[in-house]
Amino acid sequence: MKYTQHNPLPLPESGPSRAVTSTLDTIFDWQYELNQQNLLALYEKGKAATWNATDLDWSIDVDMEALARGRAGSYQIFNQMLNPPHPMDEKQSIEFNLNMNAWMLSQFLHGEQGALLATAKIVQGAPLEEAKWYAANQVADEARHVEVYHRYLTEKLGRSFEVNPHLETLLDQIISDSRWDMTYLGMQIMVEGLALAAFGLMKIQMPDEPLILDITTRIMNDESRHVAFGVLSLEDLYTKELSAAELREREDFVIEATHLMRDRLLMEQVYERMNFDVKTWTEWAKHTPFMHGFRQMLFSKIVPNLKRLGLLTPRVREEYAKLGLLQFEHLKDSTEDPGVTPPAELVNFLTQLREAGAPA
Ligand SMILES: [Fe+2]
Ligand SMILES: [Fe+2]
Repeated sequence: MKYTQHNPLPLPESGPSRAVTSTLDTIFDWQYELNQQNLLALYEKGKAATWNATDLDWSIDVDMEALARGRAGSYQIFNQMLNPPHPMDEKQSIEFNLNMNAWMLSQFLHGEQGALLATAKIVQGAPLEEAKWYAANQVADEARHVEVYHRYLTEKLGRSFEVNPHLETLLDQIISDSRWDMTYLGMQIMVEGLALAAFGLMKIQMPDEPLILDITTRIMNDESRHVAFGVLSLEDLYTKELSAAELREREDFVIEATHLMRDRLLMEQVYERMNFDVKTWTEWAKHTPFMHGFRQMLFSKIVPNLKRLGLLTPRVREEYAKLGLLQFEHLKDSTEDPGVTPPAELVNFLTQLREAGAPA
């Protein structure tokens, strides 16, 4: 494997690397009992679906600026429909577009690193043999995801962002928790559930960039197995075995993770890079109906999965009602439906934005 890092990733305030203490009981299993047919089926599926980064066509020339310029007319629709703190001109709109895209892809990369480390913990800490095997398969997937996003950002895109502080905090919490199921709940259910919906949106936004489309489609297929892995692994424990006190701790975690994930989507780093007033723009992102709808959409996969796990308890419901997230509770969970269907209004708007500047 050989690729050139034209632009190394910028570093977060915490520096080039950071140690997080994580205590976890590593479970040896001398019985090798293989009873969980659903997990074994997922393991077979995962092995059969393995692909390599070299299967992608890296010779594709990615000129995001040309694509953004082609859509330059979209700034009028953006100003009209999103009512930003100050209207954007064509040049700013192109910059904003490029930064937002690079920001999203960079956070995908950092999230993938989190998934790599968290899932390695599941290999150690999960009590079931079948879960250890599947988790090992997922670890290999995540290494490939990190590889591919890193290569895309540094070799092809030419701009990137450091890890978002809210995402960093969430990843720390997931990695440092000593309870094995919390790793799953944080990573497979919350972080990967959100990523799955975000990948769906990326595919709608980038139909004219074949490399990222191929990358996203491949990773999305892998992620839908990972989320199903989380649901299948936690279902019995959460619905049959946990005490009321233990369940309450999981509720607390879900509520806190939801807030961190919502905050991470306010994109402060993008406004900073644009030299916009971060406070004003963050407030705008919080309250503008479209941005609000965009963030809600990213929870569309998480909510039905929490429901299946018995975690849509009165306390979580109350919180989710405030955030407008209960609209997704009747959707199919990840064991029934691996796909993500974004709401029609969102698809229409993104298509309009994309096509506004395209030559007729
Ligand atoms: Fe991944
Ligand atoms: Fe994953």
